[in-house]
Amino acid sequence: MVSRVIPVDEFDLVIFGGTGDLARRKILPGLFRRYLAGQMPKGSRIIGAARSEMDSDGYRAMIAEAIAEFGGEERKDSTELNGFLETLHYVAIDAQGDGGWTELFDVTRDGVIQAFYFSVAPSLFGDLAERLHKHGIADDTSRIVVEKPFGRDLASAKALNDTLAAHFEERQIYRIDHYLGKETVQNLMAVRFGNVLFEPLWNSHYVDHIQITVAETVGVGGRGAYYDKSGAMRDMVQNHLMQLLCLIAMEPPSVFGADEVRDEKLKVIRALQPVEPHHIVRGQYDADADSPSYRADVENPRSFTESFIAMKVQVSNWRWADTPFYLRTGKKLKGRASEIAVVFKDLGHSIFEGDTARHRNILAIRLQPNEGMDLQVTIKEPGPGGMRLIDVPLDMTFADALGEDSEPATDAYERLIMDVIRGNQTLFMRGDEVEAAWAWTDPLIDGWEGRNDVPKHYEQGSAGPEDAMMLMHRDGRRWRDIKG
Ligand code: BG6
Repeated sequence: MVSRVIPVDEFDLVIFGGTGDLARRKILPGLFRRYLAGQMPKGSRIIGAARSEMDSDGYRAMIAEAIAEFGGEERKDSTELNGFLETLHYVAIDAQGDGGWTELFDVTRDGVIQAFYFSVAPSLFGDLAERLHKHGIADDTSRIVVEKPFGRDLASAKALNDTLAAHFEERQIYRIDHYLGKETVQNLMAVRFGNVLFEPLWNSHYVDHIQITVAETVGVGGRGAYYDKSGAMRDMVQNHLMQLLCLIAMEPPSVFGADEVRDEKLKVIRALQPVEPHHIVRGQYDADADSPSYRADVENPRSFTESFIAMKVQVSNWRWADTPFYLRTGKKLKGRASEIAVVFKDLGHSIFEGDTARHRNILAIRLQPNEGMDLQVTIKEPGPGGMRLIDVPLDMTFADALGEDSEPATDAYERLIMDVIRGNQTLFMRGDEVEAAWAWTDPLIDGWEGRNDVPKHYEQGSAGPEDAMMLMHRDGRRWRDIKG
């Protein structure tokens, strides 16, 4: 297996918020990896823009440190690092005033691809967009990249979409959901639509239910103030888990094109039924001997925000009628494990005498760690003594299957940034998708807020509150173990 780096055209990438956390942890180390892979064309420039006064050399030193801290195992103090740092420039900019815009105009060029990454608070999107035009820096070929949180409800998401639409066409706007950049997420589409095996079975005749789990061991870290106003529903479900659900549930698009894929995802979101209150379990982690409770972490002793959520969701269309989707995500759980499990129906009848076990096939798609898939199949237990059946996984861990020569795992961000440069919007959320997702989540959130719903307690290092287990037990089903 030989790795292939698809070249992109020369570009100028301006990162507003270029000194911020995301830029230092993800965007710049990711770009450095693309540089090392030989994908950053000669002459391309990365321009950090932020409030702090500093020159380009100061910025290069800051990013060299960030790469040393967050860049993983890359060659760090080589000539390659210096080569990468030379592509960096810095402009001190006032997003709400006039300072720095002439300098930014001078440093950007016509005739190359231009992308502007808004790695700043959404309240600044309008100011930036307006000034980019006013100062003649952006035009109708420029691309802009925005991050979540994309609104906190339908009204605010619409307002953001309107702000961006006042300055840019939808084809210019790249809304990042970094889960769409994960290798396995794309593989999900390859497996579904590139094999004859799965698609005929991918419906409620054969699939009993689907589980989507995104479990984290970390707590809310230093983001308590943001998180407590969001909770797991806004922070994870409305975007990442819904995107996964869309990809698993959508109809095959006619071609793998940006609008074709996004049209199909939108149909799934619009087919989601309202969720009954007793099909939602919210939780908050307790303190343990070594670490504080959720409420202490967010410094809000009366917080009713959820750090865990599990829910049973129904997609109301021909393909999925009667096949529930169970979603769960939470912080401080027993493992860092994200997977989608397609649990097929039990065998209708066993021809093997004495075989009383329940045999079912499960396709588990692991997003992290240890990206890959395994398909649980039933085989004969080896050895003499009759026909005894056991269930074993057919393991397709990508790292094993593709061998050492395969391209090293690319981080979601670097893949997505390169897609921006290529002008490929397939893995980005369209405005109508984001709005439809909020239109579905808003009444659920309003519902529990209106009921003054109190989140259930759960122990750190557990699989969440007991009620989340009951959500499935009531239906005669069980969650898969969280390994990680
Ligand atoms: C972010 C959330 O979008 O995704 C975080 O805001 C969460 O709360 C993170 O921890 C999880 O991403 P990953 O790639 O580590 O699974």
